[in-house]
Amino acid sequence: MSSARNLQKALRPLARQLASPAVQRRTFVAAAGAVRAAAVSRAAAPVAKQQTRGVKTIDFAGHKEDVYERADWPIEKLQDYFKNDTLALIGYGSQGHGQGLNLRDNGINVIIGVRKDGKSWKDAVQDGWVPGKNLFEVDEAISKGSIVMNLLSDAAQSETWPHIKPQITKGKTLYFSHGFSPVFKDLTKVEVPTDVDVILCAPKGSGRTVRSLFKEGRGINSSFAVYQDVTGKAKEKAIAMGVAIGSGYLYETTFEKEVYSDLYGERGCLMGGIHGMFLAQYEVLRERGHSPSEAFNETVEEATQSLYPLIGAYGMDWMFDACSTTARRGAIDWTPKFKDALKPVFNNLYDSVRDGSETKRSLEYNSQPDYREKYEKELEEIRNLEIWRAGKAVRALRPENTK
Ligand SMILES: NC(=O)c1ccc[n+]([C@@H]2O[C@H](COP(=O)([O-])OP(=O)(O)OC[C@H]3O[C@@H](n4cnc5c(N)ncnc54)[C@H](OP(=O)(O)O)[C@@H]3O)[C@@H](O)[C@H]2O)c1
Repeated sequence: MSSARNLQKALRPLARQLASPAVQRRTFVAAAGAVRAAAVSRAAAPVAKQQTRGVKTIDFAGHKEDVYERADWPIEKLQDYFKNDTLALIGYGSQGHGQGLNLRDNGINVIIGVRKDGKSWKDAVQDGWVPGKNLFEVDEAISKGSIVMNLLSDAAQSETWPHIKPQITKGKTLYFSHGFSPVFKDLTKVEVPTDVDVILCAPKGSGRTVRSLFKEGRGINSSFAVYQDVTGKAKEKAIAMGVAIGSGYLYETTFEKEVYSDLYGERGCLMGGIHGMFLAQYEVLRERGHSPSEAFNETVEEATQSLYPLIGAYGMDWMFDACSTTARRGAIDWTPKFKDALKPVFNNLYDSVRDGSETKRSLEYNSQPDYREKYEKELEEIRNLEIWRAGKAVRALRPENTK
């Protein structure tokens, strides 16, 4: 792409940002500088070097890693690879929905196994799965499948394992989307049979995104791993499965690293940590006399609507550079203070993941018969926090919500 087009493309989101009131105070000089910086940083972006078909070595900040991509698995190759397989996808929650529909659209022979007449059964029927044809009860689906995709909730995987394990017979492949069950087997009791391949493909996002990115013709980033390779083909199978369920790029990991990083990340920056940070900032603003709308706008709205998308698109330095000199100075000065205050919390969190405490908590909580009601009560409490009630009012003013 020419540098002029690069510049034009880089300016587009910026123009949108500048048009928004949240960034009116940011100067155009800073913005233009940001575009220049972005052009430079994009020019220096890691260049993928094609090695052999199906693998690229990418330099991630000085660390070379192999990355596998969908482009190397054209649909005909994918269909040919799985031509003798029946994929029995057990569980039709968020991931079951996304992965199942993508497999079906990719022309792979996939059947769904769920509890008769439960919520998932009804959802599957709504999505066009036909009872007796490609929708069965769990045991029947497993008996028909050569690759068993265990996409029950993690607590349900543990609960149902004594019943499911004897059905995972030699010759089948066992697939997960999380390392949780086998890695924490002392707690989950998911001891895998020793005579089957055990593989993982974990999309880095919700099952809804697995589906929406696939429909957009893109593809979600996923990690893949092999826990047990009895056929010598487990790695290739894991990559093929990753592509078949709708991944665009696949990063190799281990079951252990996948589950540690995943539990850590969602409790940290992705969900728990960011919520804690929002609450702390909002509460201080309110205690110091700021109105709910001001506290919300300065804590959440500007973050999600203006600045975080810039980090996502171009990186942290770009976002800093797109802001005023005053904002930049403060952000750079306060970064180490937050980092130093938070790092011990993150270390505690990693320890709590690593030693199984988080798994134990999750299994105990999510196995209670009334966990859905208890969880709904907690969601209701969050929904009723002033910050999120204020947020609802702020969102209602968006043009798309005022029609
Ligand atoms: N959600 C994500 O964003 C995400 C992302 C990456 C990986 N993963 C992993 O993907 C896997 C599936 O997660 P998910 O979020 O899709 O699960 P989920 O939405 O919680 O799905 C739950 C499924 O398990 C079934 N189920 C629950 N208890 C059961 C029981 N006792 N017996 C039989 N079926 C039972 C439910 O069926 P009923 O409707 O009949 O209750 C439903 O089909 C997990 O390993 C998860 O860690 C999830």
